[in-house]
Amino acid sequence: MARNGLHMSYQDPSTWDERYRSGEHEGRWHRQYPSRELCTVVAAGLVPAGGRVLDIGCGAGTEAIYLAQCGFRVTAIDFSASAIDIAGERAREAGVRVEWHTASALDLPVADRSIDFCFDRGCFHHVTQPDRPRYASEIARVLRTGGRLFLRGYDPGDVPTTNIVPVTQDAIDRAFDPIRFARGRVEVLVPPEPEDPNTFVGVFLTRL
Ligand SMILES: C[S@@+](CC[C@H](N)C(=O)[O-])C[C@H]1O[C@@H](n2cnc3c(N)ncnc32)[C@H](O)[C@@H]1O
Repeated sequence: MARNGLHMSYQDPSTWDERYRSGEHEGRWHRQYPSRELCTVVAAGLVPAGGRVLDIGCGAGTEAIYLAQCGFRVTAIDFSASAIDIAGERAREAGVRVEWHTASALDLPVADRSIDFCFDRGCFHHVTQPDRPRYASEIARVLRTGGRLFLRGYDPGDVPTTNIVPVTQDAIDRAFDPIRFARGRVEVLVPPEPEDPNTFVGVFLTRL
């Protein structure tokens, strides 16, 4: 899994295990409540009622738990076993059922064409350029025709970064081929702010 160069440590599950075990996620990317954009997608009816959804790089599980509370059948994966432990405990406390897997986004433990909606908040932007076609192939394999991936991640623009692989229109178009995907436009969800100078973007990809 580990690759060469700057991004090496973020492709190593043990790096993330340590971050979750130390509680670093609490003050960084983790949120107690689901993101506004995911709630909007659900409220707009873009996920079929009772459909099967997949959270890729689910972390401590906030959004997988929210989707289970909305009545969807949820599978959630993360390659950090520590993240999955925390997420599983939170789901027990919330009294919801989610199928959790410690697994890579590049090798999804999910049957072909079984998923109506995939989403990713902050995982794809840690997938290296050479691995992105494989990520896209896994999404193509598991999504039903007409199923969507809602992908959210950082575009650091000119901000120097060692851990983010930018999510730009060009990166999306290169990873997701037009034979298998209708590719939406990358839109700004959260503009840069003094506390976080990265631009948080989102894009829909629809399985053809
Ligand atoms: C920034 S965190 C976001 C976690 C969660 N989606 C959230 O919004 O709180 C990125 C997550 O992606 C996971 N991750 C990174 N690369 C992965 C890969 N190739 N396969 C599976 N999980 C991965 C990390 O373990 C981490 O939990």
